[in-house]
Amino acid sequence: MTRDDSGDADSASDDDPRDPTTVTDGGNTAAGADDVALDPWGSSTVSDYRKLFEEFGIETFDDVLDEVPNPHYLMRRGVIFGHRDYRPVARALREGEDAAVLSGFMPTGDPHIGHKLVFDEIIWHQQEGADAYALIADLEAHSARGLSWDEIDEHARDYLLSLLALGFDPEDGELYRQSTNREVQDLAFELGSNARFAEFEGIYGFDGETSVSHMQSVVTQMADILYPQLEEPKPTVIPVGPDQDPHMRLARDVAARMRYFKVTEAYASFEADAAERDHLAAAYAALEDDLDTVRCEDAADWLEAEMAPDAVRDTVIEKLRAAGKEPLRPRVRFLDRNATDEAFDALIDAVPGEKRRYDEHIDAFDMDREAAEELAREVEVDHGGYGFLPPSSIYHRFMTGLTGGKMSSSVPASHISLLDDPEDGYDKVKSATTGGRETAEKQRELGGEADECPVYELYAYLLSGDDDEFATEVYEECVGGERLCGGCKEQAAELMREFLEEHQEKRDEMAEVLDDLDIDLDSDRRGVPGSGH
Ligand code: TRP
Ligand code: SF4
Repeated sequence: MTRDDSGDADSASDDDPRDPTTVTDGGNTAAGADDVALDPWGSSTVSDYRKLFEEFGIETFDDVLDEVPNPHYLMRRGVIFGHRDYRPVARALREGEDAAVLSGFMPTGDPHIGHKLVFDEIIWHQQEGADAYALIADLEAHSARGLSWDEIDEHARDYLLSLLALGFDPEDGELYRQSTNREVQDLAFELGSNARFAEFEGIYGFDGETSVSHMQSVVTQMADILYPQLEEPKPTVIPVGPDQDPHMRLARDVAARMRYFKVTEAYASFEADAAERDHLAAAYAALEDDLDTVRCEDAADWLEAEMAPDAVRDTVIEKLRAAGKEPLRPRVRFLDRNATDEAFDALIDAVPGEKRRYDEHIDAFDMDREAAEELAREVEVDHGGYGFLPPSSIYHRFMTGLTGGKMSSSVPASHISLLDDPEDGYDKVKSATTGGRETAEKQRELGGEADECPVYELYAYLLSGDDDEFATEVYEECVGGERLCGGCKEQAAELMREFLEEHQEKRDEMAEVLDDLDIDLDSDRRGVPGSGH
């Protein structure tokens, strides 16, 4: 079936205001918002997290926090700061229904304490009852980052060992590499039929120099993200850094394009967008009590009399006049997007109560939207479709480098690798920059700047673990001038050493567990790595 919906107004992106020019700096386009560049393969910097909310439609995590059962400390402390559509996942966890969590790691270097955030997020969701998946993005590392298969094998092993050491349960969850997961590859191929090069240009800044394998790694990531729903649709969360958000928006779009039906609300036989529907709803609500039958022309009269003229109002009035005497009645509408004839017929049979069949859609008068969504998905799955729910995401803050600036895998002093010798970890913390004042005297007088301090971040993101009281104590002592950086760093450095010692012991114990899992870490693939274009 060929459909041209690349600029699709009725895709899942209803809630995703997309402006491709600001999505990425793409290396060569002037983004016009260079303090918020979301580039999955570039150096993403986020100096102002609020912009992510305004420009990209990410919502603040605080808004959903009290819907989450036993929130993880990274959620409680605002390290996980944002989300896209997390509510269905929170609800499933609360109610003990099916949910899934998945994230992926490019094996480009050692796993470090920034990756630990994501490991912890996956493990927490697993412990709260979600099906858990973690994958090694080896195709992406090879094609987009230029790593050889030998390097990839070695790093892949290290990521997996750390994930297991931190508590991932492999009996109950799934670990895979992109390159050996046949189902993921098949799904990627399918999804690729509904993704276009022009979108890749807009979203990622791809151009004529971009390698085909790099593009393939993108559809592979789309497939990763939807993989947990292959057996059956379920709320799925993808914990990532905000640099991955362009992938999330594309995945949500592509998932919607695969659907057989799209469910919307309507008031009459004509189509109306969300803003127009608000007007129709207002007119209907105002008239329904007084009139036995509210007709389109009545609603047009009402809008003309009661609402200030603007473009939306005028369009609605025009549509209502054209419909004339047709009754105005709220209904849910099933639009045929990709349904087979059998699926369309089956849906008509399955709709309860009063219904009307049109060429390309079905109107149901006795169902609410949620029930309609569920029914559409059920019929789709029964007739060979995927029925994907739009995948959700949560976003964590990037850690500040120990030397100030960005934490970067390529600058050893800026980060602490999970494989660092515990003594080196100790030393790195001891020589980290702080948010302290020039002199002890000033520090006592003014207090330290914990909010600007990479050492405080270590406490909040890692060293305090679940102990909120301890994290708060460090913060308050610091800003209150009772804590001086020397002692504070000493304490942090010791905790870091202990953490690394323990973590590495557990890694050693997990070697055997990993060997027993069916993951090929000695691949016999050959080839020349991509140059990153
Ligand atoms: N692109 C991700 C990165 O750069 C890795 C990745 C591949 C991924 N597939 C994924 C992340 C699926 C989340 C979900 O690190
Ligand atoms: Fe940072 Fe500790 Fe110094 Fe405060 S006292 S600025 S938290 S190192």
